[in-house]
Amino acid sequence: MKRILVTGGCGFIGSNFIRHELATYPELSIINLDKLTYAGNPENLADLANDPALAARYEFARGDICDREFLTGLLQPGGIDAVVHFAAESHVDRSILDSGPFVQTNIVGTQVLLDCCRQAGISRYVQVSTDEVYGSLGDDGKFTEETPLAPNSPYSASKTAADLLVRAYFHTFGFPAVTTRCSNNYGPYQFPEKLIPLFISNASQDQPLPVYGTGLNVRDWIHVLDHCRGIDAALRRGTPGEVYNFGGDCELTNLDLTYSLLEALGKPKTLIKYVADRPGHDHRYAIDATKAKRELDWEPQVTFREGLKQTVEWYQANTDWIARIKSGEYLSYYERQYGARL
Ligand code: NAD
Ligand code: TYD
Repeated sequence: MKRILVTGGCGFIGSNFIRHELATYPELSIINLDKLTYAGNPENLADLANDPALAARYEFARGDICDREFLTGLLQPGGIDAVVHFAAESHVDRSILDSGPFVQTNIVGTQVLLDCCRQAGISRYVQVSTDEVYGSLGDDGKFTEETPLAPNSPYSASKTAADLLVRAYFHTFGFPAVTTRCSNNYGPYQFPEKLIPLFISNASQDQPLPVYGTGLNVRDWIHVLDHCRGIDAALRRGTPGEVYNFGGDCELTNLDLTYSLLEALGKPKTLIKYVADRPGHDHRYAIDATKAKRELDWEPQVTFREGLKQTVEWYQANTDWIARIKSGEYLSYYERQYGARL
């Protein structure tokens, strides 16, 4: 594999994935296609410029996965060996306020991307999906790849629709796609609307931490680099048509996670503020990743204790990154860096 296209590479997981791939495979070059929505921050990959060996193998293309003409131009037959598709609207709370962009990017965008990849004869495609497509668990059991799809939020419904399109393109056209479904990621460069970076940022400034409902909802947490290693394994060793679950074997209630964050930051529990529950809030997610462990030779490597410590330290060391997001300054980063040349 010499050249891959990554969509959504200026977001949280995509940027970590690109950095990981470039560092792991010295022969690999990557094109990052990103629309730069509010969640896309090219500063997430600014450090690549400090290393000429990495920078020479990285290219950024600003564009929308819904734009067929743009994609056709980018995906010239023979030019790209594989596509890893991260680009999405990803925040459940935003999908409750307005599902329109979720339907457009997550469903229509995936359909357009699949068509263009097929036209270009792409030989491997990875659909980066989520455990949320399986819906919500009671207090027992775990999601396997056989668990029926039962999404509950507009976000997870749109991701499910995209997964079903991928499945259909495999069955109908023999399109060489694999699908990954992972639990909640944490780590550096996560947009501070998601629980962990939001709570670290708020607590650091002695601001309240808004815990939804009782705080007893359970999520399985995985370090973003373990997820990236899983996507890489699926890309290189996955069987077309198959789905692979990834999880961190780390189930926590939101309240227990919040206590751990407060302890790591040396802040009091009195910062916790119980607020109205999220409508349709899924009770529990838990992943059975036996298939990925067996067939892809994958294992999560980062313990939650160590991963959370590193993550807290990263946000404490990068308060400027958060400040530029909160002030909106990050939105003009691209124009400031590249504006004059376009
Ligand atoms: P993110 O919101 O941080 O990043 C999404 C990126 O996609 C941004 O850079 C954004 O600019 C880009 N984008 C959005 N719409 C686009 C469009 N129409 N065309 C081109 N680019 C567009 O998301 P993330 O947390 O990094 O998640 C990445 C993928 O992983 C998503 O598909 C998500 O469903 C999936 N996932 C996320 C998690 C998690 O815990 N964050 C867990 C499992 C799966
Ligand atoms: P989130 O990071 O939005 O991920 P997801 O909804 O995709 O699992 O939220 C993680 C959990 O934390 C979820 O149960 C909702 C809860 N939550 C809060 O209690 N307060 C908050 O401010 C946020 C953003 C999330």
